[in-house]
Amino acid sequence: MVSVNVVSGRLEGIKEQCIVLAFFEDRLKLEGELAGFDSSIGNAIASAIKNKDFKAEESEVKLLYAGKNAGCIALLGLGKEEKFTLNKLAEVVSGASKKLRASGIKGFAVYLSSFKNKNYGQKEYLEKITLSIVLGLYRFLKFKTEDLDKIKSLGNASIIVNKIDLAQSAKIVSEASIFAEAVEKTRDLVSTPPNIAVPSYVADYAKEIAKKNSIKCTILDEKQMGKLGMGCLLAVGMGSENKPRMVILEYNGNGNEKPIVLVGKGVTFDTGGVNVKPPAYMTTMKDDKASACGVIHVMEACVKLKLNLNVIGVLALAENMISGNSYRPDDVLKSYSGITVEIINTDAEGRLVLADALSYSLRYKPKAIIDIATLTGASIIALGYFASPVLGNNQELIEKIKSASEKSLEKIWHFPLWEEYEENIKSDIADVRHAHDGIDAGVMVGAIFLKHFIDETPWAHLDIGNTAWAKQDRGWIVKGPTGFSVLLLLNLLRDWE
Ligand code: BES
Ligand code: ZN
Ligand code: ZN
Repeated sequence: MVSVNVVSGRLEGIKEQCIVLAFFEDRLKLEGELAGFDSSIGNAIASAIKNKDFKAEESEVKLLYAGKNAGCIALLGLGKEEKFTLNKLAEVVSGASKKLRASGIKGFAVYLSSFKNKNYGQKEYLEKITLSIVLGLYRFLKFKTEDLDKIKSLGNASIIVNKIDLAQSAKIVSEASIFAEAVEKTRDLVSTPPNIAVPSYVADYAKEIAKKNSIKCTILDEKQMGKLGMGCLLAVGMGSENKPRMVILEYNGNGNEKPIVLVGKGVTFDTGGVNVKPPAYMTTMKDDKASACGVIHVMEACVKLKLNLNVIGVLALAENMISGNSYRPDDVLKSYSGITVEIINTDAEGRLVLADALSYSLRYKPKAIIDIATLTGASIIALGYFASPVLGNNQELIEKIKSASEKSLEKIWHFPLWEEYEENIKSDIADVRHAHDGIDAGVMVGAIFLKHFIDETPWAHLDIGNTAWAKQDRGWIVKGPTGFSVLLLLNLLRDWE
């Protein structure tokens, strides 16, 4: 991980190999300290502006080498000031960080004042710049063995702030670094291929993290789950040699207060089961464990942030495979809650592992339950790849999640839970069926099924099926696992009231 720190001092005295200065297109002039700095490097910046070598158009990056002693200067374009947003900031800073790394630069210092405008405060800038550098430069090289010497890497980045802001800024950046690390480690674990990251591997990984952070960790294996009667989770895992697990992580940051429970879907690979997925839909299905991976690192971050809350993470881990032992359409399962479930499609396995995990989590008498799951592909039609649906039974909790989403820049959209669609999961043989055979209202039908397995406890369901995996780079998201929901959950917990 690239580490980000804060420094203060005159630009002339900055030791990093490269100084990063940002400009708005419609405010392209050298003011205050910048003017003095430019004259110390032979007016290289003024010349670039005058010659129209640099226009500060959005995402423009211009590298200047201003003589032997001065090192390199990177000029970043922020575009028109009135159109500037934090998403654009992420795009510009992540993009520039990648370009600087590719050009062989080992470290850079970002001059914070040059980014500022009236719409955003110091905290937002520091947090978003830190996330943009660390997460934008993220990559997963663990399984590369060739040409490693040709891979360029960047070691360190600093943000230059005013001296009076130094201590406060350092605190903000160190908190943002904890957030960034949680996302990075989530991406690493999601990237870990499904032949390695089987349910027991993810459970042991969680245990290891728990041990290092003094979090209580309980692992239920298939025998213990059998005794408890977790017929839904067990059925999903039945077709695999890699047996299912349930992991419970308990962070105690506030005595006997009621906990917030985070339930994460952890399907380490989703073939679809007997209702096998077509090839194009099966690749990347190692990301079906993304939510559980996220919950592990949110729990770890709770410790690092020393949050005054009690938080419990429940991971529902299973592999959805095809074999002589697989569960099938038409099966009837008995869930941990006692409700019987008719199976319609073995590819709708997520709601089954969650059903048992949700009912189990009620034993902790939580003040809120939030489940996160790559539950459906259905929201792609309505929301695309940038925003995920959230559903639930409690408006106050939804509002909290919405405000966390705004802060984290992880977009969500509140979907209803209309009881008309309850009809879809009525079963002739069992208490409920777990899906219907259409594709209409797919997100809602999934959530309506889950609702049967909780009580009146405030509950929200975040379906990240469309956002957990990115097809291309965008802002601090890089192609591959995104870590979506980790930043949202961390904002939610940090600001919980
Ligand atoms: N893991 C998938 C959902 C998914 C699809 C995640 C695409 C990421 C990208 C889930 O288990 C699934 O297969 N859902 C089905 C449900 C259907 C059979 C009712 C779906 O969305 O098609
Ligand atoms: Zn599935
Ligand atoms: Zn799935």
